Parts: sequence; structure tokens; C-alpha cells
Amino acid sequence: MAKPLIAANWKMHKTVDEAVRFAQTVKITGDNILDKDIVIAPPFTALYPMAGVLKNSRIHLSAQNLHWAEKGAYTGEVSAQMLVDAGCEYAIIGHSERRAFFGETDSTINKKIVRAIANGLNPVVCIGETLEDRDQERTFEVLSHQITKGLNNLASDDIRCCIIAYEPVWAIGTGKTATAQQAEEVHRFIRQLLADTAGETVGNGVRIIYGGSVTPDNISGLMAQPNINGALVGGASLEIESFAKIMQY
Ligand code: PGA
Repeated sequence: MAKPLIAANWKMHKTVDEAVRFAQTVKITGDNILDKDIVIAPPFTALYPMAGVLKNSRIHLSAQNLHWAEKGAYTGEVSAQMLVDAGCEYAIIGHSERRAFFGETDSTINKKIVRAIANGLNPVVCIGETLEDRDQERTFEVLSHQITKGLNNLASDDIRCCIIAYEPVWAIGTGKTATAQQAEEVHRFIRQLLADTAGETVGNGVRIIYGGSVTPDNISGLMAQPNINGALVGGASLEIESFAKIMQY
């Protein structure tokens, strides 16, 4: 059974000072959690200062995005190598907000995953259907397309480094969580698809985490499902009290 992974996605929130103070507090709780991997994805500006505070702690850092090129004339972008240099071990890739507001496609996401893995970062690959997709009963079709294109041409060993985050778009920041049963049904489908693509061992080993209005109140029900291996938490990760409860579910 894969070790559960609880990740905080801070999106465009927190100054350096706020992030460092959060890190100083969260590491006290996090250092006692041995049975889960805890990851925080702050904005780029807070990565390096947080890495200083979290050095030798059990809390890992993630970026929220990266560029697919190794380096070059890409004004405003940040490379995988820079992220590793700043203390990152993970990178969120293909979040639905990036797909919706910044034109990310399955093909650019694929290139970012390849670059992340080449630099030793663990990609947290986000997929999810919209409400319209779900109403039209296209959920499995959409997810299967996102996975097949996003992981296109990756070797099985590379797929094994990925964490898949199932985040139904209709559940993000809306207070509407998928029920534990709805999420489990989708996670089971994703696992089977990974097993068909990359073999049974990879299918069983890849962590598939859930995101979308996760709170201290619903985390235990979600984590009780056999195919849910963790959570990607937005709003409820911004306050130390609620994130600490989720980490300790
Ligand atoms: P939420 O965000 O927990 O605020 O719904 C989750 C995410 O977007 O990763």
C-alpha cells in the first residue's frame, strides 16, 4: 500500500513572511507524522526561504508550475533546475486553473512532466472533468484523454514517479466535494487505466490523490477508500489549524 501523500496548494497566497511563519509552525507537527508524506506548494517567491526553515524536517516542498524547457529566452518562466536549486522535490503540473486561465494543454503538460522527471522532481499531475463533462456522462472519456495524452511516451518507470491528482473542476474552491464513493469510483478507473498502460505493478504503486474542497471534516471519509492515496488541499491548507488537522486525519 502506497504511503499517503497530503499536499497543500497555496495558489497565489502568502507573502514570504507569512510562508516562513507557517513553515516554522507546521514543521513541529509534521515531524511527528511518520506514516504520510507531507508536501507544501507555496508561490515561487516563498520556496527558497521556506526551504531554509524546512531543512532536515519531514515536510517537502513543491512548485505549482514549471517550464518545459531546460533554460532559455522564456521571460517570466521558471525552470525545473531552478526549482530543484530552490529546494523543491515535487511540482504540480496541469492544475485546472492553469488549463483554464493560462492555456495549458495535455501536450504542454506532457512536456512539463518529462522535464520535471529529467530533473528529479516528482510531478503531481492534475486531471479532472468539468461539471458539463460530468452532466454529459463524459467523465471517464475526459480523464482517459488527459491521462493518455499527459503521460504520452513516458516509460513505466517515469509513470511510477508521478502522483496523479484527481480534481473534479466542479469541486475546486466551491465547497462541493465529490462524495467519497464518487471519488473512489474515479480513482479505481484511473488505477485500472494506469495498469493497462504501464503494467500492474505501476498501476498498483502510483499514488492517486483527491483534490477539491477537502477539509478536516471530509478527509477521513475520503482516505478510508482503498484507491485514494492522499489529498491535494487548496483553501483548507492556508490556515495552520485546518491543515494540521488534515495532516493528522
Ligand atoms: P480547494 O482547491 O481545496 O480550495 O478546492 C484544491 C486545488 O485546487 O488544488
